[in-house]
Amino acid sequence: MQSAPILQIRNVSKTIQNRKVIDQLSLDVFPGEVFGLLGPNGAGKTSAIRLIVGLSLLQQGDIKIHGHSIKSDFTKAISHVGAIIEQPDLYSYLTGYQNLLHFARMHGNISHDHIMEMADIVGLTNRIHDVVSSYSLGMRQRLGMAQALLHSPSLLILDEPTNGLDPAGIRETRDHIRKLALEDNTAVLVSSHLLSEIELICDRVGIVQNGKLLHTLNVSELSSSSGSKTPLEDAFLQITKGNVI
Ligand SMILES: Nc1ncnc2c1ncn2[C@@H]1O[C@H](COP(=O)(O)OP(=O)(O)OP(=O)(O)O)[C@@H](O)[C@H]1O
Ligand SMILES: [Mg+2]
Repeated sequence: MQSAPILQIRNVSKTIQNRKVIDQLSLDVFPGEVFGLLGPNGAGKTSAIRLIVGLSLLQQGDIKIHGHSIKSDFTKAISHVGAIIEQPDLYSYLTGYQNLLHFARMHGNISHDHIMEMADIVGLTNRIHDVVSSYSLGMRQRLGMAQALLHSPSLLILDEPTNGLDPAGIRETRDHIRKLALEDNTAVLVSSHLLSEIELICDRVGIVQNGKLLHTLNVSELSSSSGSKTPLEDAFLQITKGNVI
């Protein structure tokens, strides 16, 4: 890939209560690619994402978004980011539309039509004027996705994006992520502990364990040595020496 990375993580470490949750993490995510952080529960996926978006204080190393360091130029760096981390950040006493409107006002220059277009893309048009407290988990995820995409970010960060979605929602989310990367050149960072999901969504995969990036794989270059496992399963088992997720 020739273009400059949208996201650059360099030698980032983080210790919480004497536990090293991120250990010398370095990785790049380029425009138009979907990069997956794959690792078991507690591997450090959410911790890494929280550092990128400034929800957790960077202790060591640096993170740049569009060349802006989050340490010295956080406002500029974060203006390029759309994210959902663990649970979407929503006001449950407001309607879906009011949530999106509130977010749109913070970013300026986002029209009613654009808000409704986003609601339509995530399949919430019929319920967009209902209060969020009446939404199901999957509907909140959908609204979170609309909110994350409202300002057309060049870096989209999704922590377990299909958590709580029904099969149709999972498929739509997957298609949507691929389309954003392909058509809008968005750089996407997703985390998951689901091998099958990561394999379908991602171009490259970073395998994380105990806060360390063990290996980065190019999904299209993988081939399976056994019939019963997918290529990524095969590679994953070799890299983690049999520690199945
Ligand atoms: N606020 C905190 N206080 C103490 N330990 C924490 C805190 N946040 C995370 N950790 C620890 O950091 C490690 C990584 O957790 P993290 O949530 O990043 O994992 P994850 O890869 O996102 O896992 P999952 O698949 O379960 O979401 C775990 O050992 C966890 O206990
Ligand atoms: Mg997590």
